[in-house]
Amino acid sequence: MRIGVLTAGGDCPGLNAVIRALVRTANSEYDSPVLGFQDGWSGVVEDRAVPLFDDEGIDRILLRGGTILGTGRLNPDILTASLPEIRQTLERHALDALVAIGGDGTLKAARWLTENGIPVVGVPKTIDNDVGGTDYTFGFDTAVSIASDAIDRLHTTAESHERVMLVEVMGRHAGWIALHAGLASGAHMIVIPEVPFDIDYVCKVMKRRFQMGEAYGICVVAEGATPVEGSGMTLREGGTDQFGHEVFTGVADQMATAIRERMNRDVRTTVLGHIQRGGTPTAYDRNLATRFGVHAAHAVHRGDFGQIVALRGESIAMVPVEEAVSVLKTVPEDRYREAACLFG
Ligand code: F6P
Repeated sequence: MRIGVLTAGGDCPGLNAVIRALVRTANSEYDSPVLGFQDGWSGVVEDRAVPLFDDEGIDRILLRGGTILGTGRLNPDILTASLPEIRQTLERHALDALVAIGGDGTLKAARWLTENGIPVVGVPKTIDNDVGGTDYTFGFDTAVSIASDAIDRLHTTAESHERVMLVEVMGRHAGWIALHAGLASGAHMIVIPEVPFDIDYVCKVMKRRFQMGEAYGICVVAEGATPVEGSGMTLREGGTDQFGHEVFTGVADQMATAIRERMNRDVRTTVLGHIQRGGTPTAYDRNLATRFGVHAAHAVHRGDFGQIVALRGESIAMVPVEEAVSVLKTVPEDRYREAACLFG
């Protein structure tokens, strides 16, 4: 069988490890050639293809962050209108199937294409860890380790200046990074999108620390956090940019202003941003991504189209794409309550 592969959506540490494992397994186990498409779905539509070989070059990408294929987001309407071009690309290269590595939008596209006669196997990726159907996505562990390292470092400077320090991490709809990084690095408060925050409660926790003789407080905030209604704090409106991407409000900065007013204290904000997505994947992410790549090759040869490779417990399982895209995997209330026992 001949396989095409693409990476779409935001990049994520571990994408190259998936590509490497897919190419090696397809070549060695099935004698299957693999063709990479550049910049996500648009590379398939416009037929921008690069052959990928199991050689020294591909071997070395295991450690590399980002994606050697480039990535991009394609409007779903453009994708559906481009079905004839996608068919032609597959026919031109005599491809039997595509492996699409991406998040929610990519996997929805994979489902739609499979329903329309293009066989696709999905590989879930996101640093946010919010794709349904899989226990973990690769990239998440790397993001948590980068964020934890940053928060660890903020303890000493916050203490020296007796400040409240707000650290904004990624997580538009799910607070997994905030929860895991906050717990790992001993943050004194964690704010996630799943549980609207009361700014007065955040101040109360911080004030209590100073009253107890502590010199500083650290609060980790997920970028998608929102205040409870009636708490006296509303966020500036977000929106979408000219590409249709969500634009965030800078929640930590706005919280900092509110805390400064309420506590009359020095408050500083650190926004970690895309640093969380950059650089070498952790060993955990390299392993998970590699296993996903190996199993994606097997899945293509079994004909498991319209499905994703997923981590279930310790094993890799095939799961219908539907399961991945129908529910956003958010932080359950009891997990947040566990963390809340340590606030203050
Ligand atoms: O979905 C992954 C993610 O890193 C989010 O956490 C973040 O909000 C978003 O991507 C940022 O996307 P972009 O790279 O388009 O700014």
